[in-house]
Amino acid sequence: MVARTHILGMGHAVPDNVVTNDDLAKVMDTSDEWVQQRTGIRERRHIVSDCGATDLGKIAAEQALDAAGLTIADIDLLVFATLSPDIDWPASATLLAAKLGAGAIPAFDVKNQCSGFLYALASADVLIRAGRARHALVVGGEIHSTGLDLTTRGRDVAVIFGDGAGAAVLGPSPDPERGLLSTHLHADGKFAEKLWLEGAASRSRPRIKLEDLGGDDPVAFPRMQGRYVFKHAVTRFPEVIHEALEASGFTKDDLDVLIPHQANLRINEFVAAALELGEGKVVNNIDRYGNTTAASIAIALCEAVRDGRVAEGKLVCLAAFGAGFTWASALFRW
Ligand code: COA
Repeated sequence: MVARTHILGMGHAVPDNVVTNDDLAKVMDTSDEWVQQRTGIRERRHIVSDCGATDLGKIAAEQALDAAGLTIADIDLLVFATLSPDIDWPASATLLAAKLGAGAIPAFDVKNQCSGFLYALASADVLIRAGRARHALVVGGEIHSTGLDLTTRGRDVAVIFGDGAGAAVLGPSPDPERGLLSTHLHADGKFAEKLWLEGAASRSRPRIKLEDLGGDDPVAFPRMQGRYVFKHAVTRFPEVIHEALEASGFTKDDLDVLIPHQANLRINEFVAAALELGEGKVVNNIDRYGNTTAASIAIALCEAVRDGRVAEGKLVCLAAFGAGFTWASALFRW
């Protein structure tokens, strides 16, 4: 029988620079009260100098390798999830592989926004179980701060996002009863324009124009219909969590820990109530980091592993919803 895949080690990295809601209120018309009430976010991290998503990813990946007791020489697959690659192309995964001193291993990016880490995890799992790799590095990393409209015009989006990275080393589970039980991936491009970044687009010549930066609705910054996204999120999250539980014959009462993507604390509270998950079963850290997109689940899982909330034998569900729309889940017997 093919061994289950498991996470053998994790790491995460965020910039030192803390940006509070009050800091943002100095450059745009917003307030600590508005942001906390609507999103649960108190602060996020922004880089201050030249630093790409792979620079944070490298720190997270090295921690994950240490935690797994492995070195980069043991890794034969690298998947990097990001919507904010260091450069447009080549893939940031190849840049990260070079920074880590990897050999000529396969390395590719997954660009699937808030579901990116789970899409990357599912891809690596399939390749490992097919015998195409033994140990994979799966990294999610984002630098949002350099791409946000940090003025009143962009405040609905700008207050939400933060920079960060998280990493996991995947390999065969040491125990056949433990590891990744299933993954579930979904997408529906009908809703792409509800949360998107249009510039720089290959369909326009040149790909970015000066006027793209100005105007009331500039295509050079991410744009979101927040309420619309919120409504879909609170439907899709419970759906995809149930899908993961049912695939292995479990119910919501069997679930020990839920690690949802960190987009909005109110969304996660709604999901916890819908699933009747008791106090302490849902891991949230959005108050400290905001939405770090492809990194958010990896950072939250890493913190929960380190502080013992995710421990051997627990039934752990990871779940995501985001731009695309895309949504996904993964279920582990830890
Ligand atoms: N500070 C102060 N006021 C703000 C603001 C900010 N940062 N952002 C928006 N506002 C204002 C709006 O201009 C609007 O003012 P108006 O009533 O005078 O027009 C008012 O607040 C309400 O805006 P609205 O967008 O309807 O707020 P909301 O209650 O829907 O909350 C979000 C906005 C973004 C917090 C919420 O919609 C949300 O979290 N949606 C889901 C987003 C998400 O999950 N995104 C990522 C998916 S991966």
